[in-house]
Amino acid sequence: VSMASGQQADPAYNYDEASVGAYTLPDPLLTSKGKRVTNVADWERRRAELIQLFAENVYGKTPQQNVKLRFQTVQTTDNALNGLAIRKQVSIFFVDYPQLPPIDVLVYIPKAANKPVPVFLGLNFCGNHCVTTEADIPLSTRWMGDGPGDVSQNNKATQKARGMQARRWPIETILKRGYAVATAYYGDIEPDHPQGWRSGIRSVLGDTSRADNWGAIGAWAWGMSRIADYLATEPALDAQRINSIGHSRIGKAAIWAGAQDKRFVAVIANEAGEGGSALARRWYGETVERINTSFPHWFCDRYKTFSKRVADLPVDQHELLALVAPRPLYVASAEEDQWSDPKGEFLGAAQTEPVYRLYGKIGLGTTTFPAVNQPVGHTVRYHMRSGKHDVTDYDWAQYLRFADALVR
Ligand code: GCU
Repeated sequence: VSMASGQQADPAYNYDEASVGAYTLPDPLLTSKGKRVTNVADWERRRAELIQLFAENVYGKTPQQNVKLRFQTVQTTDNALNGLAIRKQVSIFFVDYPQLPPIDVLVYIPKAANKPVPVFLGLNFCGNHCVTTEADIPLSTRWMGDGPGDVSQNNKATQKARGMQARRWPIETILKRGYAVATAYYGDIEPDHPQGWRSGIRSVLGDTSRADNWGAIGAWAWGMSRIADYLATEPALDAQRINSIGHSRIGKAAIWAGAQDKRFVAVIANEAGEGGSALARRWYGETVERINTSFPHWFCDRYKTFSKRVADLPVDQHELLALVAPRPLYVASAEEDQWSDPKGEFLGAAQTEPVYRLYGKIGLGTTTFPAVNQPVGHTVRYHMRSGKHDVTDYDWAQYLRFADALVR
C-alpha cells in the first residue's frame, strides 16, 4: 500500500521515523495576510494574531472577564521543612461564583531570603499532599483520577498518596537555591475528565455552544494566572519573577499560560509533547487525532476538525513556544518518552529562533539535535535526558541553572 506523506495505516500514533513524511511549517514571521514581520512592533501585532489563532483553533478562547478573587490564608507556619521554609496554604475563592470550589495553593518560601524571591509556579497532578511528605498538609477532597498505585480510590485521594510525587518536587533543593515553590492541584480548576468542566470554572465562563469555547488546558492555564494574581500580593515573593512550569498535560497548560500572560517571566515545558511543545505536523508519537480522541475535553471543538488534516491548521506548536519570546524558555524531553516526540519538541524549540533574533537574542542557537543528557541553548534551552516520562532531579538541575542565569 502506498501512502501519501504524513499518512499511515494507523493514523492514531507513529513510532516509525521513516513514516513521518514531509511537512511544511507555518512561518511565525508571516502574518495571515502574508505580510513579513521584520521588527518587534510588527511582531507584537503578529503575536496578538497568533494568540487569537491558537484560541480559535486549538485551546479555545480564554474569557477576558475580570473575576473577583478572595485570597484566604488557611494556614501559615514559619517552621516548615525543619526550619528551612515559611509555608503558606492559601485558598483562592471566586467571589461571584460561590458554587465553585476554591483553588488551594501551597507555597514554600525560603526563610533565609532577605529580599523577595523568584518563584516556580506549577500545577500538580494529584493534590498538594502528593508533592511533599509533610504530614500536616490536608488531603485533597476533590475528584482525583485513578492514578498510579494507591494515589486515589473511587476518585478520592487516599492517605497513601502523601508524598507520592515528592520526588518530582525537590522543594528543599529549590528553596536552598533561593527560590520559592507554589503549586495547586490542577483538578481544583477543572477535574480532568470529559464532564469535569461542569464543576469547574468553565461551568460559569465561556460558551459551550461555540467551536472555539475553551477547553480544560485553557482553564488550567487561566488558573495559573489566577494563582499568579495571588502570588503578586505576597511581599516575600518577587512578582516580576514567577516562572511557569509544568509537566506533560500540565506543561501544555504552562506554555499556554506563559504565552497569554506576560507576567510569567519564563516558561519551562517538561515533556509537554503533543498539543504542547511538539510540532503537530510531525507525524510521530502521539498525534492530533489521537489526543483529540483520548482527551476530547482538553482542546476546543474546532481542534477536532483538524484531526485528519493537520496540515490545514493555521498554526503549529513552534509558534506557541515563540509567544514566550523574548522571555526565557526551556523545552525538555526524555529519551524513553517517545510518545511526546523528543525530536518534535526539539524542533519546536529550534523554530522559535527567528522570533528571539528579532529581539536581538539568541534562542536555542542550534539546529542540531543534541545527544542525550547534553543541554543546549541560550535564551531558549533544550535537553533530552535519559529515562522515562517524568520529572527528575536532572531536569530540576537544568531548570535551576537556567533560572540562575536568566531569571535573576
Ligand atoms: C497522555 C497524553 C499526553 C500527556 C500525558 C500526561 O500520555 O497522551 O498528551 O502529555 O498523558 O499528561 O502525562
